[in-house]
Amino acid sequence: MHCTALQRMFLLKGLKPNACRPILSHVVKRGTYCRQASSRLVLGIETSCDDTGAAVVDETGLILGESLHCQKVVHLQTGGIIPAVAQRLHRENISRVVQEAIDRSGISPSELSAVATTVKPGLSLSLGIGLDFSLAFVKQHQKPFIPIHHMEAHALTVRMLEPVEFPFLVLLISGGHALLALARGIEDFLLLGQSTDEAPGDTLDKVARRLHLRNHPECSTMSGGQAIEYLAKQGNRHNFLFKTPMGQVFDCNFSFAGLRNQVSMVIDRKELEEGVKSGDQLLSCVNDIAAGTQHTVASHIAKRTHRAILFCKARGLLPQHNPTLVVSGGVASNSYIRETLKLLTDATGLHLLCPPSKFCTDNGVMVAWNGVEKLREGRGILPCTEVVRYEPKAPLGIDITAEVKDAAIRLPPLKLKVKKLTF
Ligand code: KG4
Ligand code: ZN
Repeated sequence: MHCTALQRMFLLKGLKPNACRPILSHVVKRGTYCRQASSRLVLGIETSCDDTGAAVVDETGLILGESLHCQKVVHLQTGGIIPAVAQRLHRENISRVVQEAIDRSGISPSELSAVATTVKPGLSLSLGIGLDFSLAFVKQHQKPFIPIHHMEAHALTVRMLEPVEFPFLVLLISGGHALLALARGIEDFLLLGQSTDEAPGDTLDKVARRLHLRNHPECSTMSGGQAIEYLAKQGNRHNFLFKTPMGQVFDCNFSFAGLRNQVSMVIDRKELEEGVKSGDQLLSCVNDIAAGTQHTVASHIAKRTHRAILFCKARGLLPQHNPTLVVSGGVASNSYIRETLKLLTDATGLHLLCPPSKFCTDNGVMVAWNGVEKLREGRGILPCTEVVRYEPKAPLGIDITAEVKDAAIRLPPLKLKVKKLTF
């Protein structure tokens, strides 16, 4: 049995068939397993937002080495991502992060078959650092370059961990995006719905800031989404009932800005009632507000996903056997949202796959894996001399959101009651 099969056996042993099962990590400890000598290697580099990530992954999906520098703590202090600060931190860390990934993999750059780097979408200043570094690297080492679409990479990471065949439905929820798409191939997506205003992670980050959760003793180093999830576990969502957005819009698009307004108005009122004036004081009901917000975000996401499932079923877009919903992006780390989606997929006969949190948030592994998939299909591989530009805005796939809206699918009633999650 070669190393990949052995590793997959360990992966499978940990799986619980009926739970919303996270897929276990797929990292190789150097010296523990041998790599197939013939397997090609890709270095992946990610700098689209606020994480500097790099990884070396082989064709079978083994992670030989990886490194990640997360800027979260700095951005928490400034109350959000300042692009110039993100750029500076990427610039300061990129060489070290890439070198660490290569050193940990125990290979030399000459053994790489290609370098894959996120070039779209994302913050211009951040994308530029990863791209400039990568173009210099491929020139120096005379390696082919594979430009990567960040959302495609999020969507396909799951295929590194499990044998998921196309087509499948994918829900990507992060700090920058909310979208539903049908993945038909590695560069072939049908876009069913996307956010018309802000992304769910952005909303949770803003609510957390409005609640001054940075001053909460247990949440000071957590991202907004993590802090809301943490506090919600101790709160009662029934104490603050928010209206689920877009109840009368029968498409698969998302909207979170209105919900944020609802939550802000409640916070304004409670601050008046409790005489809370400065950011040092926390409302007595932060846990309940967190629980109410998280529940409404989960409910909105589940309803739009429900309609996407019904649309795909009605059009015969999903396979009869083992139709699958893949969920990824930073917000997909949220257990309450995962549990809500599990209730939905159980009720609609879909198989739910959520990569482990470390693969849901931004990382170099997903970019390297997307490079592997392209390398295997011989798509999008450029010579090291090619001029490549980054694209801050880049839609995913063919946009059929208007067709989805025209179908105007009404949702049957579905109770999505998540049991109280404890630590
Ligand atoms: O995918 P990601 O790492 O970066 C983007 O591409 O945006 O996602 C980051 C977002 C942040 O908004 C963060 O608050 C949110 O994901 N997030 C969470 C959780 N962990 C991170 N949201 C809800 N629950 C979590 N546990
Ligand atoms: Zn992302």
